[in-house]
Amino acid sequence: MQMTQPKDQYAVVGNPISHSKSPNIHAQFAEQTEQVMSYHAQLIELDDFEKEVAAFFQERGRGLNVTVPFKEQAYTFADQHSERAKRAGAVNTLIKQTDGSILADNTDGAGLVRDITVNQNVTITAKRVLLLGAGGAVRGVCQPILAEQPQQLVIANRTVSKAVALADYFADLGQVSGCGFNQIEGAFDVIINGTSASLAGDLPPIPASIIHADSVCYDMMYSHEPTVFNRWAEQQGASKTIDGLGMLVEQAAESFFLWRGVRPDTDKVMQQLRQASAA
Ligand code: ATR
Repeated sequence: MQMTQPKDQYAVVGNPISHSKSPNIHAQFAEQTEQVMSYHAQLIELDDFEKEVAAFFQERGRGLNVTVPFKEQAYTFADQHSERAKRAGAVNTLIKQTDGSILADNTDGAGLVRDITVNQNVTITAKRVLLLGAGGAVRGVCQPILAEQPQQLVIANRTVSKAVALADYFADLGQVSGCGFNQIEGAFDVIINGTSASLAGDLPPIPASIIHADSVCYDMMYSHEPTVFNRWAEQQGASKTIDGLGMLVEQAAESFFLWRGVRPDTDKVMQQLRQASAA
């Protein structure tokens, strides 16, 4: 009698987690690439991260995606960290290695950069880039953006000291400065909203002068309606506005590649998600 081989297990953990699109995305990736694996969403109580994650890896768990509010705890949990994870100080991907140790990586920034440069065909190299916000989401993407060698990266935030501290922290990687929203000078080629203001339907108080006719605006948030920031950017005459759905799918693809060594076709998955959210 032939035994069916147990599937390698993967999951996304967070709190809350029921809204997560990751199980759908990874199921499509696995089907496309014919990987024998399962992927589910798992709610973890706020005090139970370490216990639950240790149990997951002791059983058949091979890899995890980690989301709010556990990205820093996941960093601490891991035995080793990629360079970009060290810079981000928080991770969204854990990988069980052959010796049983846990490697942590952060694929958010790579996902953002790939969506901008490959899917949207927008160049970051030698361009003026503005990042709005200075929280965990922005810290997570600074290193991969700077690796593209923009002419200049400006980080603007409501709490100015956080923008300045973040700019100082990344200063060895390129031309980076931090300021408040009302201190932003000039117009930018690529403007990325990494504040959580969109979540509440708010717009950061940013001057219209940051936008020129060729500006590309990117909101790391997504929803089936255009975000407040992207609607504002269109009204100011931005040439292109993009939401964070592509970043979501690309960060997932990067995690999938780290776990399985194959790159899925992200285009198909993005189309499916857009159709599903429009339905
Ligand atoms: P995340 O993990 O999403 O980055 P975070 O670390 O709490 O969450 O950071 C939230 C970011 O959104 C911060 O940059 C915050 O600005 P402050 O540092 O001044 O708090 C920014 N933010 C949240 N609500 C905002 C609003 N209504 N207008 C402008 N910025 C806002």
